[in-house]
Amino acid sequence: MIVIVGSGIAGLTAALTLRRLGAGPIAIVTKSAAADCNTRFAQGGIAAALFAGDTVDSHVADTLSAGAGLADPDAVRFLCTHGPRLVRDLIESGVAFDRASGRAATGIESGIESLARGREGAHSRARIVHAGGDATGSVIETALLERARRAGITTHEHTFVADLLTEARPGADIARVTGVRLIGPDGVRRDIAADAVVLASGGAGQLYAHTTNPAVATGDGTAAAWRAGAVISDAEFFQFHPTALAARQDFLISEAVRGEGAVLVDEAGRRFMTGLHPDAELAPRDVVARGIARTMAAQDGRPARLDATGLARRLGGAARLAARFPGIDAACRANGFDWARHPIPVTPSAHYWMGGVRTDKRGRTSLPGLYAVGETACTGVHGANRLASNSLLEGLVFADAAAHDIAAGRAGRGARRRAEAEPAAEFGPVTTIEPAHASAADLQPVARDDLRQLMWERAGLFREAGDLEVARKQLAVWQPAGGAPSTIAGLETENLRELGSIIVAAALARRESRGAHCRADHPGTLPHARPLNLRTS
Ligand code: SIN
Repeated sequence: MIVIVGSGIAGLTAALTLRRLGAGPIAIVTKSAAADCNTRFAQGGIAAALFAGDTVDSHVADTLSAGAGLADPDAVRFLCTHGPRLVRDLIESGVAFDRASGRAATGIESGIESLARGREGAHSRARIVHAGGDATGSVIETALLERARRAGITTHEHTFVADLLTEARPGADIARVTGVRLIGPDGVRRDIAADAVVLASGGAGQLYAHTTNPAVATGDGTAAAWRAGAVISDAEFFQFHPTALAARQDFLISEAVRGEGAVLVDEAGRRFMTGLHPDAELAPRDVVARGIARTMAAQDGRPARLDATGLARRLGGAARLAARFPGIDAACRANGFDWARHPIPVTPSAHYWMGGVRTDKRGRTSLPGLYAVGETACTGVHGANRLASNSLLEGLVFADAAAHDIAAGRAGRGARRRAEAEPAAEFGPVTTIEPAHASAADLQPVARDDLRQLMWERAGLFREAGDLEVARKQLAVWQPAGGAPSTIAGLETENLRELGSIIVAAALARRESRGAHCRADHPGTLPHARPLNLRTS
């Protein structure tokens, strides 16, 4: 049995590839409804070197440059090389990406070149394909779920993975993952044995008071992997999307809007990104997010504005703007904004965790039997700052690779199969972090909102040692007294607390500013970029 945890693009791709390769029984487990995942909220699209005139080299160069020296060139090349084939597979399987004419393309034969191509920050050319205007993730998720249903893949909904099961290996200091401990919809705990566990459980945007992520993004898979002893890397790098609608802070205003020509202005109507980066509004995401945050600070915290009025005129009016961005248009109008006529208030919001469970190019973690794909993983492709619209691509490419690796292992027998399942790579030096201690008398229950506010204020867009120390101590005090929480909400909060502690420890350890990690007390960037690999003691 192969257990896949999560039902977004990464989990479904792993499942579908495993089924196609005949790798044996598969079960997907997901803690909510199958469609309730972060993939569904992806707006801008999926980046790949698909079009004539574009090259894998150019996509590699843009990804490495956005990653601020920390991305792994090998992993990036793997992503950009395999990406176009897997996006073509999506098109062939019926995902209707938008065409330049506004009509949907329903097959590869209708021509890659006829697809609409968007541009987003830090891309040197327009290479992002989108679907449903600004509903790319939702269109892909619906198509993959339907394919999984047709392939007879069982998805166990409302089933929470409380922990990974492990078995010690004679003579080895790391355990093998042998299954999962589940809490089913009936509330009953069950241990399920697995030949391989694939974590595709998404990110942890709920760590922050303001996030574009849905409520399910509580990092449960990453926290379970940590407790089992897996290496987590790049934890200090959390991406804040520059533009969430300030009226409803969780609503993403896609970077594609700026890619089409909308500009950022302060409350006096002055553009400010032109003075901060040669690419202005299309600078790397961390640069734009900080530019907005500083502009907000200079106007007593009031939001910056995204001005799409010129874009509306260029497209031919409000109806055309709405046709290009139907979801955003609806959200603006629901909040009382006529964005075709007036700039809208925007603010940065936690969006994507570059860090995660360290993997190699085959999705293998540091623990035998455990794979991680999608946002749960740290494959090294994002480095210190993810390039826009590379996340759906990463989910596709590395889930496919992990499925091939698992299938190859299962095709072997006995010793060969076991050897195939061992991790291929060491991930360089690993630092062990001790959990921060607080005396039993000091422990307090934590309210999730307080935790999220603490992370936002002390470990957010701008960091410094004093704030991080406050967060470190507070997170230690909030440890549960008397064992693991008994409810799923309590387990999620404890997962967030553990992950928050890892982020804070990593942010304290990285005494430089690089990409999304900005230390006010260490503003310079060190000459050599070094990933930080962490493991629990
Ligand atoms: C967006 O549409 O701006 C988000 C896309 C992404 O996070 O890559």
